[in-house]
Amino acid sequence: MFSRFKKPESAPATRPTGLAPVTQATPAARTASAAPAAKPGVAIARTNTVTAAPKAPADVAAMEKEKKRKERLAELKTELHKRLLENLNLAALESASEASLKIEIGSIATEALDEMSISLNKEDRAALYQELYDEVMGLGPLEPLLKDETVNDILVNGPNRIFVERGGKLQLTDITFKDERHLLRIIDKIVSAVGRRVDESNPYCDARLADGSRFNVMVPPVAVDGSLVSIRKFKKEKLGIPDLVRFGAFTEEMAAYLQAAVSCRLNIIVSGGTGSGKTTTLNALSSFIDNTERVLTIEDTAELQLQQVHVGRMESRPPNVEGKGAVTQRDCLRNALRMRPDRIIVGETRGEEVIDMLQAMNTGHDGSMTTIHANNARDGISRLENMVAMAGIEMPLKAVRSQISSAVNLIVQASRLQDGSRRMVSITEITGMEGEVISMQEIFRYERLGVEPNGKIIGRFNATGVRSHYSDRFRQWGYDLPASIYEPIA
Ligand SMILES: Nc1ncnc2c1ncn2[C@@H]1O[C@H](COP(=O)(O)OP(=O)(O)OP(=O)(O)O)[C@@H](O)[C@H]1O
Ligand SMILES: [Mg+2]
Repeated sequence: MFSRFKKPESAPATRPTGLAPVTQATPAARTASAAPAAKPGVAIARTNTVTAAPKAPADVAAMEKEKKRKERLAELKTELHKRLLENLNLAALESASEASLKIEIGSIATEALDEMSISLNKEDRAALYQELYDEVMGLGPLEPLLKDETVNDILVNGPNRIFVERGGKLQLTDITFKDERHLLRIIDKIVSAVGRRVDESNPYCDARLADGSRFNVMVPPVAVDGSLVSIRKFKKEKLGIPDLVRFGAFTEEMAAYLQAAVSCRLNIIVSGGTGSGKTTTLNALSSFIDNTERVLTIEDTAELQLQQVHVGRMESRPPNVEGKGAVTQRDCLRNALRMRPDRIIVGETRGEEVIDMLQAMNTGHDGSMTTIHANNARDGISRLENMVAMAGIEMPLKAVRSQISSAVNLIVQASRLQDGSRRMVSITEITGMEGEVISMQEIFRYERLGVEPNGKIIGRFNATGVRSHYSDRFRQWGYDLPASIYEPIA
């Protein structure tokens, strides 16, 4: 019956007498990602729903019954998963289609359930088979979250606490791993797929999931309460300018201004806190780049998806286990300068590459863009100054500032507000130097007016009344923005 995917030598079938023998089961450690030695008592919740809304004050007995049912299903799943690993020829699985594999897994599981004289209703059975499939082929309990389009981030704090971010808000899910070993096995599966390892001596690592999602892990003992995993889900359909306008991230007037700024090759920095929408904004802004231009992108983890025809993508590489072979963003950037770029886009400037970025912006690669971690435009400039200092460049502060002021034209500030909404809270132009200080002028800002009882922030975008320093340039390039877009609403 296991014809297509069965191992050449059939493993001796363990024959459990009900659910208890899970603990005495022979470990099926045939592969690197072998089944975890099962321990009783820690349940894997079977659910596709991930809200942590407090349970209704329902009847305690019913809740207890539901808990028992979940525990029973979790134990069953462990046992069936172990059997699958014993019986499936894992090497043959790669070429199997999803449908045929599901059928095969279903028939192995059905036979095992019959042997154990366990009957499940149709719904439980279907859910169990799906979870088994996810365990064998996917990332186990993380699979439903990866498939859930509404989830932006998945954050695992040890095996029993998985959070997700939806609509800018974090929620605790009721999904758990069986135990730390189960979690580590899934982590191992992810990092080994990209040729890396995490263990006590290399306790953290960045990787990319097969679907492009950004993945970071830190394992014990550095992670104190169990492995910490952070996943930024990759969105195939990136939010474009019209989407962001529709979601209230900025206004149409601001979009018109940004279009002029990008088209007229201003150097732009998108600044913001973690998860504030910097990469999304950068990606959306890139849509204003002309199709005839050669754009080179440099990132630590490739997230940008430019729509232009002529795009060269680069991704930095960490050192291997012997500490060799690293290719930094700075290496990529230096090389990019020899690749005849019209524009360079650096996913995030966070270190010594700042020097080359500023030089590129100053020397003929105008129209370049990057993001930085900062809370406002002024902080963004300080961040740049600090990065230059930390890169070991001995330059008087005034000279550094002068470099920055002539390199950067515009700082766009992205922010995630308390209610979870992401907005472009400020667009600020750099206008030059006044003495030792970089001068700036804010053109648009988000004004907070209050808070609704449900916590939603009331606010509006407004112009500051200041006309763009680059108005003449916009006009010369054919972007004659109406004066009205700079007029504030009273
Ligand atoms: N205006 C928006 N409205 C709704 N969702 C948004 C908006 N901007 C970004 N997002 C979503 O928020 C998540 C985080 O966005 P993004 O990756 O751009 O943030 P980031 O600032 O680059 O984060 P990090 O600091 O981790 O690199 C993404 O899933 C993205 O799809
Ligand atoms: Mg980002």
